Amino acid sequence: MVTGAAGFIGSHLAHALLQAGTTVIGVDRRDPAADQTAAANLAASHGLAGYMHITADLLTCAIDPLLFDADVIFHLAGIPGVRPSWGPHFSDYVASNILATQRVMDAATRMRVPRVVVASSSSVYGPTSGGPSVESDHPRPASPYAVTKLAEEQLCLAHAARADCPTDVVALRYFTVYGPRQRPDMFTHRVLRAAITGEPLRLYGDGHQRRDFTYIDDAVAATIAAAFAPTDTGIVNVGGGSNASLLEVINIAKSLVGRDIQIHVEHARNGDVLTTRANSGRAHDVLGWQPTVDLHNGMRAQMQALTQPAYRAAA
Ligand code: NAD
Ligand code: UGA
Repeated sequence: MVTGAAGFIGSHLAHALLQAGTTVIGVDRRDPAADQTAAANLAASHGLAGYMHITADLLTCAIDPLLFDADVIFHLAGIPGVRPSWGPHFSDYVASNILATQRVMDAATRMRVPRVVVASSSSVYGPTSGGPSVESDHPRPASPYAVTKLAEEQLCLAHAARADCPTDVVALRYFTVYGPRQRPDMFTHRVLRAAITGEPLRLYGDGHQRRDFTYIDDAVAATIAAAFAPTDTGIVNVGGGSNASLLEVINIAKSLVGRDIQIHVEHARNGDVLTTRANSGRAHDVLGWQPTVDLHNGMRAQMQALTQPAYRAAA
């Protein structure tokens, strides 16, 4: 089962699993019949043998019947995004990231699902000195979103630690994932869109923030590898190894599209950290995984997807 299957990462994951011959039940509360982005995200998987899509809210739906014979739950459903989490929607973050996760773990336990792979976030580290973050570092979440993601991963691990729980958990701390179908609120999408359309880009701060940008196919490969990781693997960083500043990303977008970008500088946003950088030793050791796509090539693929007519209609 892939939760959040109509979303950015979940839709790519579901498709990759299907391509590998796996049967997938995708669950998402966004209805592809009513939501253009969900429809575009799911277009490649819909109709493929082995895929069943369920439109349902994990806060209320009956989860047990979806889990007969499930080997793995990839739990990616949630409310993402650092900056909007300060606003009035915090209760949505709590509901989808924590309360729904509790329901997923209760169902996994009852249905004796062997493995849950849960989407955590680099944001749980909070401000760092700029060096690579190791999974054992003390988390210092700096936004309401990051607090819910830390709660989510720890909640899953607390379930797994119970002597009577048959479900093992791997929590993946993804670092800023980008590529085709990336969420339109994210920076790489916005910078490419600005370069393609000529619309201005709003830059929050001076652009010296750095992110360990992770290409979507690499994130998906790590996620599938997590299904096969040893018992008690616990937390693993998934960082793309392309640590770059926003100004560097702007320059790549300009050179790929061949057009200047109009920039409106705005104040830095609360909860945004200056740098994220993953120590990937554990991902290499326990998942046998390392990133393969650099930022320039990954952004080229994202730009090509953004300029396809079908994508433009949904974006
Ligand atoms: P996304 O918004 O594209 O996908 C999330 C999906 O979850 C959406 O389709 C949404 O409808 C669904 N969802 C939310 N609440 C639900 C509920 N209660 N019941 C059913 N479906 C629900 O986001 P994404 O970028 O694909 O992120 C996927 C996961 O990875 C999230 O948990 C996010 O916190 C985490 N994550 C993402 C990134 C990133 O860079 N994109 C980095 C770190 C962690
Ligand atoms: C991203 C995802 O949005 C989170 O869901 C995820 O948990 C997180 O990665 C993670 O790694 O864990 P973020 O790093 O904030 O969060 O990624 P972007 O939304 O792409 O923002 C990156 C930087 O660009 C931030 O400093 C942000 O302030 C800046 N930005 C973003 C702008 O300057 N302008 C914009 O229009 C958008």
